[in-house]
Amino acid sequence: MKIQPFKVEEWMNAYEDSAIYNIAETCVDPLSIRELFELTATDIEDFTERIFERPLTYGAITGSHSFKTGICKLYRSLKPDNILSTHGAAGANHLVFYALTEPGDHVISVKPTYQQLYSIPESFGAEVQILKLRRESNYLPDLAELKEMIRPDTKLICLNNPNNPTGALIPNEMLRKVVEMAENVGAYVLCDEVYRGLNQNHEYTESVADLYERGISVGSMSKIFSLSGLRLGWIATHNQEVIKACFSHRDYSLISCGILDEAVASEALKNGSAVFNRNLTRIRENLAILDSWIREQPHVSYIKPRAGTTALIHYDFDIPSYDFCKQLLDKTGVFLTPGACFDEEYCFRIGYACATQTLKDGLQKLTEFIDGLSENGVIQ
Ligand SMILES: Cc1ncc(COP(=O)(O)O)c(C=O)c1O
Repeated sequence: MKIQPFKVEEWMNAYEDSAIYNIAETCVDPLSIRELFELTATDIEDFTERIFERPLTYGAITGSHSFKTGICKLYRSLKPDNILSTHGAAGANHLVFYALTEPGDHVISVKPTYQQLYSIPESFGAEVQILKLRRESNYLPDLAELKEMIRPDTKLICLNNPNNPTGALIPNEMLRKVVEMAENVGAYVLCDEVYRGLNQNHEYTESVADLYERGISVGSMSKIFSLSGLRLGWIATHNQEVIKACFSHRDYSLISCGILDEAVASEALKNGSAVFNRNLTRIRENLAILDSWIREQPHVSYIKPRAGTTALIHYDFDIPSYDFCKQLLDKTGVFLTPGACFDEEYCFRIGYACATQTLKDGLQKLTEFIDGLSENGVIQ
C-alpha cells in the first residue's frame, strides 16, 4: 500500500541528531524517571520492588486499569471501558483510520496539521478533502467552508486541537458547532488532542469525546506529560462500536502496550497536576520569551499561539524554508522545522517548550543568522 512520505518525520530523522540548539521538538522538555518521581512524590524503592517482582507478561490487553483510570481524569464523562491504550498518539491515529476508513469514504481533514490526519486515510483509498487553516483566520477552521464540504455520506472529520504547527486553539463554542454539523450527517469526529490543556490562558478546553457520542479523542503521554519515550497513547470515545473495531484491528498490530510503560505512566497520572503545572509554567514562560524576540525582529512575524508547544513563524527572505532551515543548521547548529513539511512556505515551525536556556541560546543564534541574511539583502 502506497503512502506519502511523512515530511516532518523525515526531516527530523535526517537532521535531529546533528542539532546543537534543538528548538524543533514538540514535546514539553522531556522528563527522566527520577525527575518524574520527584514531581509526583513516588517512592522509588517501592516502585522498583513492585516492578522487579512482576513477571513480564503482556499485561492487561486493552491497557492496565490504573492507566485507564488515570486517563479518565482528563475527561468529564469517560469510564475505563471508553479507553483503549495504543503505541503513542501516532499508533492511535493510525488505528482509528485502519479500523474506520474504507476506499471511497469521504474524509475531511484540516491542514496544516500532523500529516497522519490526511495522508493515512488517503493511503487507505479514502477521498480526503482538505479544510485549509488560514493565517488570516488565525488558523481556525472556517465553519461556512466546512458546511459546504460536509456531505450526507461524510464518514469522518479530522481535527487537531490545539493545532500543531500553528498553536491555534479552537474555542469550545466553535468545537460544539463542528460537532453539530457532524451529528447532522452521523459523521465521526476524530480530534487529535495530544496538546489539550497546554493553554496560555486558564480556560478549560473541551474534548470532542465528552461532547459527542461519535467523537473520538486521541491523546498521549508524550506532550502534556513530557514522557514521549514511553510510547504510550490512547483512543477515548463513548462509541463502543469504534472501541470494538479498533480493538479488533489492534490485535493484528499491537497485542498490548508494555507493562513497564503503563506502570510509569500510571505514576504520572496519579499526580498529574504536578507534571501539568510544571509544563504550563514552561510553555507560558517560554512563549513570553519567544514573543518578545518576535517583537524585536523586523523580518519575522507570527500568529501568537494560544495553546500547544509550537508556532509557525513567517520570514520575509526570498529563501525556501528547507534551504533556510538547512543553512541555519549547518551554520549555527540551530534546528527548526521547515514550513514546507506542512506544505506552507516562507516560514518555519519552532518548538518553544524545550529547556528555557536552549530556547534563549537558539534564538540568539537565529538572530545572528537572520542579521547575516538581511545584510546580504535577500528580502522578498
Ligand atoms: C498532533 C500530533 N499528533 C500525534 C503525534 C505523535 O505523538 P506520539 O509521540 O504520542 O506518538 C504528534 C507528535 O508530534 C503530534 O504533534
